[in-house]
Amino acid sequence: TSSQEPIHGASEFLVVSNRLPIDRDSTDTADVGWRRAPGGLVTALAPVMASRDGAWVGWHGAPDEILEPFHHEGMDLIPVPLSSDEVELYYEGFSNSTLWPLYHDVIAPPEFHRTWWDSYRKVNRRFAEAAASAAAKNATVWVQDYQLQLVPRYLRHLRPDLRIGFFNHIPFPPPEIFAQLPWRQAIIDGLLGADLIGFQRPNDTANFLRSARRFLGASVKAQQVHVKERDDSISHIARAEPFPISIDVGRIQELAARPDIIARSKQIREDLGNPKTILLGVDRLDYTKGITHRLKAYGELLDDGVITVEDAALIQVASPSRERVETYRQLREEVEGMVGRINGQFDTIQNTAVRYLHHNYPVEEMVALYLAADVMLVTALRDGMNLVAKEYVAARSDNTGALVLSEFTGAADQLKQALLINPHDIDGLKATIAHAITLPKAESARRMRAMRKQILSHDVQRWSEDFLLALQNEAVRDDR
Ligand code: G6P
Repeated sequence: TSSQEPIHGASEFLVVSNRLPIDRDSTDTADVGWRRAPGGLVTALAPVMASRDGAWVGWHGAPDEILEPFHHEGMDLIPVPLSSDEVELYYEGFSNSTLWPLYHDVIAPPEFHRTWWDSYRKVNRRFAEAAASAAAKNATVWVQDYQLQLVPRYLRHLRPDLRIGFFNHIPFPPPEIFAQLPWRQAIIDGLLGADLIGFQRPNDTANFLRSARRFLGASVKAQQVHVKERDDSISHIARAEPFPISIDVGRIQELAARPDIIARSKQIREDLGNPKTILLGVDRLDYTKGITHRLKAYGELLDDGVITVEDAALIQVASPSRERVETYRQLREEVEGMVGRINGQFDTIQNTAVRYLHHNYPVEEMVALYLAADVMLVTALRDGMNLVAKEYVAARSDNTGALVLSEFTGAADQLKQALLINPHDIDGLKATIAHAITLPKAESARRMRAMRKQILSHDVQRWSEDFLLALQNEAVRDDR
């Protein structure tokens, strides 16, 4: 149901993100069809868009293709084009080989290239211009994530009338690490173009404010930064605050109650050869997720004889991600090598140790997996939030199941009753996985109940409402 209608500077509410929340629908033979992409952000924001005359500005995912604005399922979409060079320099380069590793504890070494930075600036300017020409007077613009940190500043220059919010979905590093970035001042200055800058955790917020003080000499009081013009007059007040993101709880619960999905979850266990325990990992195939640490721990538990493949099978869903970036290619080699070695050593004709799936699955299948899994393994080395942990909890309506959760995720702030682990501590991880497998029912129910209470009262709708309300109040305080 797509139609091609232009949109003229009339949007009261704009969301700007690197990707539009749509995927090309390959089953559509005419090749003009789109499907709404899965994900909580679009679920939370689509109703806001509909009620406030909104539009979404972002890249549609294909290089070297220029598309006119169009409508899809009640949303106005404004595609921003990227050339193949820009995909390489701005997206795979600066966004995902400089910022991504730098912001995730330098797990992989970040690369600094001036050509990448030039492209990042150019593309950020393009996104800002697209938003500036779509926005109505005094409109609200909400910019998303690390790919677009310069947009708030560019946008404020182009359109000082706008209320500008920014939300960083990934961690913000401590100044000691951020210091490495040759363009650290410009990034901080870019973010400070916003009225409200949201982060996942209090720690990320504090890191950002420390960097603003240290690298820009900004005056920071409480969580507010007084942003000055060249002539020393105050242009506006930017406020930094944590807003931990969540998931579409209602949708996950609804799916978890569907008879066909419950039946599918039982089928999954059957198909695996009826192991006593199913362990599950679900991640983008990314080096921040600690997949190799998880495999190492699981392989050693088999090797030590603490578990057998009949006792405990591991399903690892690794969805393909950023496949042209070298660090991601290396990770895939490493993970697939480990899986092959573990399976070669421990598989029987009937049972497999690791069922490794390098695919994307529809949300229905993901929920069936959550229902099938007795133990969910989230072992990220660093993660802004980790929504898989929250989805697992939302799906477990009978209060069974154990969540093994890395303390290096934003989700660990909210899911305090999870079995928390340090994924670098392989012995600790092994002990906790073994503990999770044998967790007494009463204890797992107590933990799950407490976690569900937290998640059920904090869904992604509430997150977006909280942010947008704070953004509105910010503008009032600022008296514009
Ligand atoms: C993370 C980022 C998102 C990004 C997603 C998928 O969750 O915070 O901004 O869209 O990964 O990565 P991709 O590079 O495929 O957009």
